[in-house]
Amino acid sequence: MHSATARLLARFSTAPLVQAPMAGVSTPALAAAVSGAGALGSIGIGASGATQGRDMIRAVRALTPEPFQVNVFCHAPAAPDPAGEAAWLAHLEPAFREFGGRAPPSLDEIYRSFLGDEDTLRLLLAERPAAVSFHFGLPEAGAIAALRDAGIVTLATATCLDEADRIAAAGVDAWVAQGIEAGGHRGMFDPAGRDEGLPTAVLVRQLVKRGGLPVIAAGGIMDGQGIRAVLDLGAVAAQLGTAFILCPESAAGPAYRDALKGPRAHRTGLTTAISGRPARGLHNRLMALGEAAGGPAAAAYPRAYDAGKQLHALAAAAGNHEFAAHWAGQGAPLAREMPAARLVQQLLAEVASSRKG
Ligand SMILES: Cc1cc2nc3c(=O)[nH]c(=O)nc-3n(C[C@H](O)[C@H](O)[C@H](O)COP(=O)(O)O)c2cc1C
Repeated sequence: MHSATARLLARFSTAPLVQAPMAGVSTPALAAAVSGAGALGSIGIGASGATQGRDMIRAVRALTPEPFQVNVFCHAPAAPDPAGEAAWLAHLEPAFREFGGRAPPSLDEIYRSFLGDEDTLRLLLAERPAAVSFHFGLPEAGAIAALRDAGIVTLATATCLDEADRIAAAGVDAWVAQGIEAGGHRGMFDPAGRDEGLPTAVLVRQLVKRGGLPVIAAGGIMDGQGIRAVLDLGAVAAQLGTAFILCPESAAGPAYRDALKGPRAHRTGLTTAISGRPARGLHNRLMALGEAAGGPAAAAYPRAYDAGKQLHALAAAAGNHEFAAHWAGQGAPLAREMPAARLVQQLLAEVASSRKG
């Protein structure tokens, strides 16, 4: 085993907890607080360019000497589909008009994939964070090898056994087993493919039985009891996203926090309407638009997100947050509001006491 992986596993043996990378929500302050408290903090730079990514990595380093994870998106670029995009924009047009705007005439590829992104690869090799994780697929073999050779632990999201096999074959060091309960985007490699929708517990068991790589469980885990459950299933650690959204260090705005603390937390849904890829969030009108009978398919990821973000900005300026990307997992009603370091201490204490009990 890679010595960097052994170091990470040693950290998990005392603190089997990862704060999930959450582009737009996790901040350097959140990652640093979590890592400083002994768990593994993370930043997501999938929605940032290399320059902003470097600033974020350096901002974590300025706050803590502890290891942390950096996450990138490895989606295949969207295939051109002008007719499909026009149909999706026409479907959204009445909502834009409701807030005094117009749907844009066309959409842009707002997030650059890590696939072929030499600038971000150079940045990661120069900054050498302890861990780099891939979501939505895998980068080129050369990039994985270069990161490993630089002493960086590589991780990749798997939502099914087939993706897990491809991750292992590519020489990645650990699986992030993401169940259907998870908040945010499903890491599935092919969003157009059939999705079995495996729950976290089932997926973790399948991967543990398959063997070969350590399993980090993600999806619906909100407390130490949940962490203990996935450790009992054979995972080496749990990755929690939704549990950290209410921390003061997260970038979530007041409307997002209020929604997560209210009755809406009990109604999450998986939708492609917001970004173009399946993602779980608090149910809202943009999701309902995506579910409208006879409606068109959303534009492809990340082009649909261009429209979704413009519609949300217009509506939010009028005080309406019904079109927001308020990502959250099915454990949302269990989210607790407290500083990240305290939440880490609380979670680890719960793991320890559930071990005794
Ligand atoms: C607000 C939010 C943003 C997310 N952004 C990312 C991301 O940028 N990269 C990534 O790999 N996973 C992302 N995820 C998914 C998490 O890595 C993880 O799979 C998920 O949070 C686990 O489920 P939970 O939210 O129920 O804990 C995000 C999740 C949330 C809630």
